[in-house]
Amino acid sequence: MRVIVLPLLFGLIAVSCSPKASGEASNLAQISDARVLQYAIPGKELYDTYCANCHQKEGTGLGKLIPPLRDADYFKASIHRSIWIMRNGIKGPLVVNGQEYNQPMPANPNLKPLEIAQIATYLYNSWGMKEGVIDAPRVEVYLRNPPTEN
Ligand code: HEC
Repeated sequence: MRVIVLPLLFGLIAVSCSPKASGEASNLAQISDARVLQYAIPGKELYDTYCANCHQKEGTGLGKLIPPLRDADYFKASIHRSIWIMRNGIKGPLVVNGQEYNQPMPANPNLKPLEIAQIATYLYNSWGMKEGVIDAPRVEVYLRNPPTEN
């Protein structure tokens, strides 16, 4: 265990100490569980690459065009649905925190279950949420069955 934890901790300290990243390190700094961090660290990289252009690094979304993930009732209501959306995209109107959004989100057919698991673990352990590890087998189950929430 110690073998895994130490490099993770050093990685995190390095990130926290880099002046450029100081604001952004806060989400990972909230996480103390080593297994969650193992997913969340690559998850943050993937999020910044695949999602942050639209949803923004801090998950705030963008005006009336892009819904927020941070402090968002829709996002909190269903991990299954969020994972389905990450892979398959979504179109049609949806309401987040009382605001209607109606722009299509493109699918991500190339994201592997492990990568989706890492992104989901990162997001669902940020901004005060503490959902623990969302692992690849769980993501595979979610992707086989459309969510019942809509
Ligand atoms: C090209 C811009 C774009 C990208 C890139 C994108 N999204 Fe979205 N996303 C949207 C839009 C627009 C909606 C609202 C769709 C609608 O109105 O039907 C949305 C909706 C969502 C929702 C449901 C609404 C909510 O606020 O919870 C989730 C969850 C989500 N996106 C997560 C992600 C994640 C995670 C990624 C990266 C893998 C990602 N999105 C990449 C534009 C984007």
